[in-house]
Amino acid sequence: MIGDRKLVFSGVQPSGNLTIGNYIGAIKNFKEFSDEYKCFYCVVDLHAITVRQVPADLRRRTYETLALYIACGLDPQKNTLFVQSQVPAHAELGWILDCYTMFGELSRMTQFKDKSAKNAQNINAGLFTYPSLMAADILLYQTDLVPVGIDQKQHLELTRDVANRFNQIYGDTFTIPEGYIAKDTMKIMSLADPTSKMSKSDENQNAVVYILDSKDDIMRKFRRAVTDSGSAVKYEEGKDGINNLMTIYHAFTGKSMSDIEREFEGRGYGDFKSAVGEVCADGLAPVRCEFDRIIKDKAYLESVMKAGAEEAASYARRTMSKVRRKIGFVN
Ligand code: TRP
Repeated sequence: MIGDRKLVFSGVQPSGNLTIGNYIGAIKNFKEFSDEYKCFYCVVDLHAITVRQVPADLRRRTYETLALYIACGLDPQKNTLFVQSQVPAHAELGWILDCYTMFGELSRMTQFKDKSAKNAQNINAGLFTYPSLMAADILLYQTDLVPVGIDQKQHLELTRDVANRFNQIYGDTFTIPEGYIAKDTMKIMSLADPTSKMSKSDENQNAVVYILDSKDDIMRKFRRAVTDSGSAVKYEEGKDGINNLMTIYHAFTGKSMSDIEREFEGRGYGDFKSAVGEVCADGLAPVRCEFDRIIKDKAYLESVMKAGAEEAASYARRTMSKVRRKIGFVN
């Protein structure tokens, strides 16, 4: 809380191009909060290095992710936009919370299990303690609300557990955050394998639609999307491919599933796939246009980062001094 305004925090990794899954599940909703809440949106580069990064790419993507935040409608005057590694308190509280997070808890995280299966040659300690750093991000600002995709729900629950544990030992220190998980636009699945999540690191480029893809690419990817052998556009258990396309159509048009079923009654999958491609490409066109404009202006992006980091640091400082005192660190 800040005065009578609740605080929102969320983060996006600068690793790889962002997908429509990131857009629909997270970023698109971020701006809804700006009017009512004090919002902090972070580019989480400390999290990104849990998998090996090419330095020049990491740097470029950090600028790009910030530019994308702005292109998606987050006004830097109204939101605090910043880069995680530019506010050292994240790493500091991250370490502290490592000491209040249990090995067993971290071992149960499904994202850790997935990522370590995918990166068998680099299962580093950071990959394992990733969730306590995420808890630090959130708790540092006394966050009330955390808009995230459904895949982050488990990390959020861990954050609450760690905060409660700390509060129990030392008395009230951290606000216990609530997750805000958009219900109707849950998880966007891969276009090639609709039983697994759309992932920016998928090797099959046809499986993933990026926010900055051209209209031609978007149309082609949707036309090739894997669907089942049926033909009716109907939201049904087991029809993962069509359900996913309907979810995307819904996200860009706001139409309900039954409206979509009615609209495409008697028309085949082919028609529907093209229609999904259209609404997606049209919905993303203004974002792409803004992005192209902003990304050229490095000085502007750096000024946004600097102001954001300063403001974030001033909030973080208050929590850190409370935490340090409670733990018994000498000031
Ligand atoms: N783990 C999140 C993801 O991969 C990113 C993230 C890091 C985050 N810190 C956060 C999200 C704090 C919300 C709040 O999507």
